[in-house]
Amino acid sequence: QNQHPILLVTGGAGFIGSNFIHYMIAKHPSYKIINLDSLTYAGNLDNLRNIETNKNYLFIKGNICDSTLIQTIFNEYNPKYVVNFAAESHVDRSITNPQIFLETNIEGTQVLLDACRHHWATVERKLTSKFLQVSTDEVYGTLGPTGYFTEATPLAPNSPYSASKAAADMFVRAYHETFGINVNITRCSNNYGPYHFPEKLIPLIISNALEDKDLPVYGDGMNIRDWLYVEDHCRAIDLVLHEGKPGEVYNVGGHNEKANIEIVKLILKELNKPETLIKYVADRLGHDKRYAIDASKIKNELGWEPTVMFDEGIRYTIRWYLEHTGWLEKVKNGEYTEYYSKMYTKR
Ligand code: NAD
Ligand code: DAU
Repeated sequence: QNQHPILLVTGGAGFIGSNFIHYMIAKHPSYKIINLDSLTYAGNLDNLRNIETNKNYLFIKGNICDSTLIQTIFNEYNPKYVVNFAAESHVDRSITNPQIFLETNIEGTQVLLDACRHHWATVERKLTSKFLQVSTDEVYGTLGPTGYFTEATPLAPNSPYSASKAAADMFVRAYHETFGINVNITRCSNNYGPYHFPEKLIPLIISNALEDKDLPVYGDGMNIRDWLYVEDHCRAIDLVLHEGKPGEVYNVGGHNEKANIEIVKLILKELNKPETLIKYVADRLGHDKRYAIDASKIKNELGWEPTVMFDEGIRYTIRWYLEHTGWLEKVKNGEYTEYYSKMYTKR
């Protein structure tokens, strides 16, 4: 167990989870990685094609809400670490259908925590094992034109998605305080990079621009997000998993605030497409105005800083999509087409 620690990754077939598995397989060749994913519309095993035969990797199709399955996995594999990415992750979908966000994001997290509580009951396991919850800066709500989210910022989620993530964070905290299991929570800002599902701003704009389709910009396009290249997030999670102090929350962010319209215009310029494709559409309900992360805690305590500059990261990401048009076409299947037409034809 100590020589070959078992790392259970949930939601590893999604955007960040698959990048994380790629990162961890390369970084920790002695680790055995189990990827538990129910393969919702957002889960895609194509993201992991080149490692599926790696002897240190195992995929299990299953739902984190299935407590019997989770207990079986814990009994059989005895994971030392759990990193929980599995979630419904899209704010717009949480506005249309909040229920599934409660199930996966809250109940699923509680089911995983319960398995940790039972399997890591000894003092030794409480000290050496860890549950890491991959949370989000959206739990803090929205900022005005100035200021940053710190770990002490009160939680004030505004969307059903962020409310469900905040509730999950509270369960993680409670299981640490009540049962003594070792936990950390990371709260990261917006990620971008390869394998990003094209319902989210950056891959949606790239995908539509490549097809000369309208580029939907919500409201006035002046909402601000703090963008971080996905591999920098993966490195932060690895660091917190191994060196984070028990029970602590760590904010992760890029110090890279951009208005949405800036991002859209930059992508158009890189792809040599006209700005006439931009279409301002009705705003998202409860649309948070600005996110910006103060990441000084993770920098001062663990030495983490972003390494990929936005200009470089976004160019690499655009090139990745240009070189993976097959991947893009395949994920834009029936479910995607139906979702997309519901989202945008009504506007
Ligand atoms: P994603 O939607 O791309 O991937 C989610 C994955 O979870 C998919 O593979 C899906 O099949 C799986 N999944 C969903 N429900 C499941 C269930 N009940 N059981 C098992 N697997 C299930 O999401 P993402 O963008 O990669 O985000 C991953 C995590 O990181 C989420 O928890 C999200 O809240 C958090 N996060 C995301 C960002 C971001 O910018 N994308 C930023 C900060 C935090
Ligand atoms: O901040 C972290 C969060 O970032 C994560 O917790 C979420 O899982 C992730 O989806 C992301 O949430 P956002 O809502 O910020 O990301 P999204 O890509 O959906 O939207 C980014 C911004 O772009 C937001 O202000 C809404 C806007 N937007 C989005 C889409 C999809 C548009 O203007 N047009 C669009 O078509």
